[in-house]
Amino acid sequence: MPDNALRGKTILVTGGAKNLGGSISRDLAAAGAGVAVHYHSRSDKGLAEDTVAACIAAGGDAFAIEADLTSVAEIRRVLDSVIGRYGSLYATVNTAGLAKGHSMTEVTEDEYDAHFAINAKAAFFVMAETAKRIDDGGKILNFVSSLLAAYTGRYSVYAGSKAPVEHFTRALSKELAGRRVSVNNLAPGPMDTSFFWDAAAPGEDAFSKAQTPYGELTKVEDVVPWVRFLLTDGWWLNGQTVFLNGGFATR
Ligand SMILES: NC(=O)c1ccc[n+]([C@@H]2O[C@H](COP(=O)([O-])OP(=O)(O)OC[C@H]3O[C@@H](n4cnc5c(N)ncnc54)[C@H](OP(=O)(O)O)[C@@H]3O)[C@@H](O)[C@H]2O)c1
Repeated sequence: MPDNALRGKTILVTGGAKNLGGSISRDLAAAGAGVAVHYHSRSDKGLAEDTVAACIAAGGDAFAIEADLTSVAEIRRVLDSVIGRYGSLYATVNTAGLAKGHSMTEVTEDEYDAHFAINAKAAFFVMAETAKRIDDGGKILNFVSSLLAAYTGRYSVYAGSKAPVEHFTRALSKELAGRRVSVNNLAPGPMDTSFFWDAAAPGEDAFSKAQTPYGELTKVEDVVPWVRFLLTDGWWLNGQTVFLNGGFATR
């Protein structure tokens, strides 16, 4: 596939202002895409604007859009805004997620509901609403977690609420038969962003590093090239979950 395969293509990146999503937005814009940079917290508006500016400076186009994706009406508003702005949708990269590291006896009902609302329900409707609008030959990519292949405590609600996305992915990849739309999940290992550090117990980073043959956490830059690959030459992967973790866990 030529280097300009993403030039002029429209891509929605949920959670696209910072950390992993922020790097993905920049990378796809550098490949010439028009990127809808979704962000959640109003306090991230400035970050989202910085990401949009970086996307444009990198040679693509971008705009920022704020939304709480646990509302299906908001998901529709975001996708309609993307179509309104660019006229088409080539791909959605869904990086939105939530993790708290608590034992099952500590998890509150609110925490349980919040995890399932963004990690499962929002993923489901982002996929479904994308499927209604996406171009033939498009791509849908979700982020789940290598904890789906790990045997561990503390992340029951996080991993448990990401697990359904594998089934959503299998189903949607079949349902889009004939349209050549690939639907997949990427599952990073413990990754060096605020998301990991905010949830981690003291010493968890050392434990996680010790689980990989390289003795390192996953880094954002280890993951970003896979997104571009799966949106271009890697299109033949379909309905699957790729564990990107340097050997932290396999399945
Ligand atoms: N870092 C890791 O160790 C790790 C490992 C494996 C997989 N992952 C997955 O990788 C993805 C990106 O993680 P990251 O490390 O880059 O952390 P991150 O930047 O915190 O990504 C999560 C994003 O989800 C957004 N979000 C949370 N609740 C939302 C809601 N109700 N509506 C819309 N957006 C919402 C967050 O926005 P706010 O911050 O404004 O709420 C944030 O932008 C996540 O899906 C995560 O599960 C991370």
